[in-house]
This record gives sequence, C-alpha cells and structure tokens, in this order.
Amino acid sequence: MANQIILLISVIALSFALVAFAFEPSPLQDFCVADSLSSARVNGQACKNPASVGASDFSFSGLHLPGNTSNPNGSKVTPVTVSQLPGLNTLGISMVRIDYAPWGTNPPHTHPRATEILTVVEGSIQVGFVTSNPGNALITKTLQKGDVFVFPVGLVHFQRNVGNGNAVAIAALSSQNPGVITVANAVFGSNPAISADILAKAFQVDTSVVDQLQAKF
Ligand SMILES: *[C@@H]1O[C@H](CO)[C@@H](O)[C@H](O)[C@H]1NC(C)=O
Ligand SMILES: *[C@@H]1O[C@H](CO)[C@@H](O)[C@H](O)[C@H]1NC(C)=O
Repeated sequence: MANQIILLISVIALSFALVAFAFEPSPLQDFCVADSLSSARVNGQACKNPASVGASDFSFSGLHLPGNTSNPNGSKVTPVTVSQLPGLNTLGISMVRIDYAPWGTNPPHTHPRATEILTVVEGSIQVGFVTSNPGNALITKTLQKGDVFVFPVGLVHFQRNVGNGNAVAIAALSSQNPGVITVANAVFGSNPAISADILAKAFQVDTSVVDQLQAKF
C-alpha cells in the first residue's frame, strides 16, 4: 500500500515536471516588460524597471492594416510577439494577422514553441497539419469566416486561401516568441546547404533534383 502511494506521488510529481518543461514557466511577478537594452542573457528577456513601465509597453497598433501579399507565397504574416510588444515577455502568449491573396498560401511550417489557434475573419481558408511519425496523417479542413482551428505545438501545418477574394485570419500562439521553421527553407535553403546526397536519400530523388531545389533559395 505504502509503495503504491509512493508510486502515485512519483507519477503526479513527474507529470508536473513535464508540464513545467513543455510550456513557458508561470510569471513570478505581475509582469516583466522586455528590456531591449539589457545585455543580460536569460530565458526570454530581462525585465524593465517596473517604475518606468507605461501603457505603450503593453500595446501595439496596426493590426487593422492588411499585409502586403505581393510575394511568391501570396501571403503575409504580421506578428505581434515580444519583439513588437515588450509587455508579452514571460506571459507565454502572442498573436499574428495573416493576409492571403486569392489562392495564396502560408507554406508548411512549424512553431517549435507554440500551439496556434486561428480564426478566419474574411474569406475561406483551407488549413491542415500532419501528425508525427509513423502515421503522418493529414488533418485538413476548409474554414469559413468565424471558424476556429487549432494547430498543436510543433506539428507541420499550412493554410491556403481557397477563394477568389482576399482572406484574413487572426491567430493566437502560446509563446511570447513562437519561432517559425518553414519546411522548404529549412531543408533546401539552410546556410550552409545540407549535402545534396543526404537530401537525395531523404526524398528518394536524384541529386540533380536536390540541386535544382537548393538553387531556388
Ligand atoms: C508590396 O510588395 C511589393 C513587392 O515587394 C512592392 O513592389 C509593392 O510596392 C508593395 N506594395 C505596397 C503597397 O507596399
Ligand atoms: C514564404 O513564406 C515563408 C514564411 O513566411 C518564408 O520563410 C518564405 O521565404 C516565403 N517563400 C517565398 C518563396 O517567398
């Protein structure tokens, strides 16, 4: 009996430890506005003196403005992370506006530190994510205005405007600094390049195909 209780306590303690590792730590004060001038190396950014903090540290303006989608993706992400809004430091949250030209895409990418919850405010958007190995199941759906979709942390996901008009989405992310890894850029556009023979094996193609893809970045 005593052994079972010890085991139960261990399991509970371990699950709390896992929560602590998997998500940004809880704040230990009301706020810690990012001090962009500090040279301190900490996980996140150092705090500004709370006495010199004001409303501008907690606000951002401009998310009503459409992003410029005249680029090969036909989409534009306007981020509001700790870089744009210093008050987000240590709070484990941020947001983006995403604009899509007709048939524009936000290409396959992952956020290493955040789950993303997205809502469509204009147009129709096909969204999807792919589950981990070995299943690699594609979970996809076409969303209309007002629909909400969640992309679980770390999974490769994408969006595509499936309408002839512009589309707009607003998304929240569970990190002050979610990070983005765009799959094509990371794999074919790394600096320096990954050896073509490695990618040729990974994609089961000739190295000339890899050379062609790497040349695009
Ligand atoms: C949008 O971006 C394109 C390509 O960089 C540029 O030529 C164009 O002037 C931009 N449009 C606006 C309104 O800024
Ligand atoms: C498409 O968008 C991604 C993520 O925003 C960016 O990293 C990439 O450079 C873009 N690709 C092209 C071809 O513009």
